[in-house]
Amino acid sequence: MPRQLFVTTALPYANGHFHIGHIMEYIQADIWVRFQRMQGHQVHFVGADDAHGAPIMIAAQKVGKTPQQFVADIAAGRKPYLDGFHISFDHWSSTDSPENHALAQSIYLALKDQGLIDVRPIEQFFDPEKGMFLADRFIKGECPKCGAKDQYGDSCEVCGAVYAPTELKNPYSALSGATPVLKTSDHYFFKLSDPRCLSFLEQWTQDGKLQPAVSKKIKEWFTKDENGEGGLGDWDISRDAPYFGIEIPGAPGKYFYVWLDAPIGYLASLKSYFSAGGPKAKYGEARSFEEFMADPAVEQVHFIGKDITYFHTLFWPAMLQFSGRKLPNQVNVHGFMTVNNGEKMSKSRGTGLDPLKYLSLGMNPEWLRYYIAAKLNANVEDIDFNKDDFMARVNSDLVGKFVNIASRAAGFLAKRFEGRTTAALGDEGQALLATLQAGRAGLVELYEARELGKVLREIMLLADRVNEYVDANKPWELAKQEGADARLQEVCTVCIEAFRLLSIYLKPVLPAVAANVEAFLKVEPMTFASAEQLLGEHTIGAYQHLMQRVDVKMLDALFEPPPAPVVEAPKPGGEDIAPTITIDDFVKVDLRIARIVNAEHVEGSTKLLRLTLDAGEGRHRNVFSGIKEAYQPEQLIGKLTVLVANLAPRKMKFGISEGMVLAASHADEKANPGVYVLEPFPGAEPGMRIR
Ligand code: MSP
Ligand code: ZN
Repeated sequence: MPRQLFVTTALPYANGHFHIGHIMEYIQADIWVRFQRMQGHQVHFVGADDAHGAPIMIAAQKVGKTPQQFVADIAAGRKPYLDGFHISFDHWSSTDSPENHALAQSIYLALKDQGLIDVRPIEQFFDPEKGMFLADRFIKGECPKCGAKDQYGDSCEVCGAVYAPTELKNPYSALSGATPVLKTSDHYFFKLSDPRCLSFLEQWTQDGKLQPAVSKKIKEWFTKDENGEGGLGDWDISRDAPYFGIEIPGAPGKYFYVWLDAPIGYLASLKSYFSAGGPKAKYGEARSFEEFMADPAVEQVHFIGKDITYFHTLFWPAMLQFSGRKLPNQVNVHGFMTVNNGEKMSKSRGTGLDPLKYLSLGMNPEWLRYYIAAKLNANVEDIDFNKDDFMARVNSDLVGKFVNIASRAAGFLAKRFEGRTTAALGDEGQALLATLQAGRAGLVELYEARELGKVLREIMLLADRVNEYVDANKPWELAKQEGADARLQEVCTVCIEAFRLLSIYLKPVLPAVAANVEAFLKVEPMTFASAEQLLGEHTIGAYQHLMQRVDVKMLDALFEPPPAPVVEAPKPGGEDIAPTITIDDFVKVDLRIARIVNAEHVEGSTKLLRLTLDAGEGRHRNVFSGIKEAYQPEQLIGKLTVLVANLAPRKMKFGISEGMVLAASHADEKANPGVYVLEPFPGAEPGMRIR
């Protein structure tokens, strides 16, 4: 009987594109899924965007989109990543789907029926300008311990102190800057501290199904310290409007906290896959989603990162258990991916290795699949992407040991034997192939247990055996010897047979290479069962190169920071600031307030106005100013302005100008016309000096 597997990866927040951490998780799960399919099992592998929550709502607001539009735009960018790395999800949905709204509400009502929902008033910071309660990360202020400024509401990045947002000094809203006020509101709680929940979870988390390190960690979470603090508390599952989420039935203005509906999104995505007819088309599945999930034989398998263990091993199974649903059979927790010696990857930004850049540089996605698989095991361990290590594993192992076997043998078979392999194999060849076939059982166990590093190590050991055979039998020499045709055909056949077996074993990791191998060897899609038989007498196709080596230049380009955009330093007003002067230079210019007592056109001039100025000197000055295009004389008469009072008088065509009036203009007056005479703030008197 084929197994029936419902497999998920964590639902990524829809506020950013995938980073290498996401891709790593998908590669791990995809390899396991492909392995199960190759074993003839039925797999429904689904994902979805995690659409809800305050951060997404606020990010959408910032760019002037509705949250629905915002997450749809992110979702629209998912395909190139998933296709690019050969991630074979059967279906992708969103937690904002109608299926998820309905399922979340029905699970909640079931918990309520069980008496596991409580309502309690909670006092929280409220932003009076935005009219909303503030999550801890949207409150900032001074650390209550060390006084550092601009710290978040939950912990201090400077001294590491952990506190409640209400303890911050001079708190302010990170959204509006307003001072938050304390406000009370009813919150809904899932009563995890109920004895039924506690005893269920103590059993479920410690019965050996979880990874040992995970069970151990959960035990710590269960344990109260000497002050009676810690342990499993009730879980606050509601948020007040405005919130982008699912409304709580019977509680107007209250929404489910995003982490309540997010894992329910696993079920919702599968349900929408059923509605779309996927399982029927693929496996002839006749049952509805509900019937399928009611079948105890169906296995529910989650792949997640270590940071979200709490949600998946406590909240999630409790929600399922007490709403009468199937429980997860596996929650497979992986560590974090770091890049080039552990630079911490930020959860939201990611760093270092941009998956799309990797693809756009023409780097082979299967290099990365192979490399990540080689580093993964069944434990919760972080793995590091390291350039030299990557080069070595791909070039020496993958290409050097595996791909080369085919390229060495295929040419002779094509040229000399019209691509025909033979069933007449000598003892040595038969023994080698028997060893390779015998390796299958162990590999199957390792794949099943997600020991991918060990899988690849075992396969490379088998490849070593094949390469030893090639070196011992030297087909290139047999090709030159007379009368050695049968030997040459036999040795090359053994190589191709061996290569096919290794390709079967690597197929979950290298699906595209495997597809090319199937075309080249002219065989049906390979499964693990195909390793039971050999090709025997068969005609293979022409060999096409299966995989290039990594060029170090590609890796250098991958990690080269994007060129800083060439921004020309802005020229204020169209010109650079003049060379620096000292205050002594400045005081040489005597600037005075002057009243424009008269202004008039100058006959014969298209540019100038004649101004009569009173600078408090007991006499009037005559100043010509090039502002005729900008002002009518009547606009100026009676106004105050600024006069350069100690400028040497200048004789002009129309008379003597005794100073200069200040006005602003752009350096390029043609492109940016406009001249603006300066006018002091009210209160200035003619004669006052400007300093
Ligand atoms: N939306 C939640 C999950 C809800 S599941 C019902 C979330 N999203 S996430 O986008 O932040 O993370 C998605 C997955 O990527 C998680 O399993 C997380 O652990 C994983 N990773 C995020 N950064 C990672 C690395 N640097 N390395 C490996 N996995 C990482 O959490
Ligand atoms: Zn501090």
